[in-house]
Amino acid sequence: MRKPAILVVGSLNMDLSMEVTRFPQSGETVLGGVFTTAPGGKGANQAVQAARLGARVTLAGKVGNDGFGRELTASASAAGIDTGRIRISSAVATGTAAILLEREEGGGTRNRIIVAPGANMDLMPEDLDWLREGVAAFDMVMLQLEIPLEINRLVAEYAWEKGVPVMLNSAPSAPLDDRFLSRLTYISPNEHEAADLTGIAIRKEGGKAVQEDLEAVTRALLRRGVKNVLITLGGAGAVVSGESGLYHSPCVDVAEVADPTAAGDSFVGAFCTALCAGMDRRQALDFANCTAGITVTRMGAQPSLPTLEEVLPVLKREKARGFEPKLLECLR
Ligand code: RIB
Repeated sequence: MRKPAILVVGSLNMDLSMEVTRFPQSGETVLGGVFTTAPGGKGANQAVQAARLGARVTLAGKVGNDGFGRELTASASAAGIDTGRIRISSAVATGTAAILLEREEGGGTRNRIIVAPGANMDLMPEDLDWLREGVAAFDMVMLQLEIPLEINRLVAEYAWEKGVPVMLNSAPSAPLDDRFLSRLTYISPNEHEAADLTGIAIRKEGGKAVQEDLEAVTRALLRRGVKNVLITLGGAGAVVSGESGLYHSPCVDVAEVADPTAAGDSFVGAFCTALCAGMDRRQALDFANCTAGITVTRMGAQPSLPTLEEVLPVLKREKARGFEPKLLECLR
């Protein structure tokens, strides 16, 4: 089996992160801790994750004609990604994200992220004129919601015409129409995005998501035309819809969450890579959980995303259903 080919059409942001011991109130100033910059953006993060796991990845997106843009393109290229489809905006600066990392007493870290999309929102249909025919060369297309919705719709339409599966990581939250949803093979919201999309809140009891709520959210999304639903539940793991109901995979145990930024991107990138490598949905779910379990223990978005060699021992330790070396051969 040849290496899977994945196309990501999505955002590239420079992440500007600052540690705080508590988030400031409105009108308040607090002193923070360490400040770092790192390449990020949901599209680029997912692309880098898939590439580090062994997929052949092309990233299409837009950056500004500035230092951040050049740095982000170089970072993607260093991960082995084909960056030839990244366009440069002459009008708008590269996207940035302001990230606050709140260190909690007793361990643990939470984040809050504000994205200034910049050039990501300047991605135009004409930047993707190669895609109508070109999409057929890929095993899967991955989308998120940090570029114009119109572009996502267009890409999903082209992929659908050629029978190429599409994964939409529906983050950040946005209203989505049924036509677009009907073009998706997978949608992967987190619990909050799922509630925004369906109006159904996913309750948690004893740290576990309530099954009835998960089923109601999944049914609502399937009714709107998506073929499969994958819901990430933070510390409660993730579920994916299958022939015989929902498959659940718990999070792997981690000693300490250093930085949850890009954990969701790591998860989705790994899930899609695993599917393209021939794993079934359950196996892909376990593989994704093991991958994201490493990501949260490290700082920064792209610097934290693990390679296949780093994930394999975790798969083995967790006795993950996806751990069959033969299945992973095509990623090496
Ligand atoms: O998902 C994490 C990412 O969200 C960050 O890298 C940031 O750039 C925002 O896009």
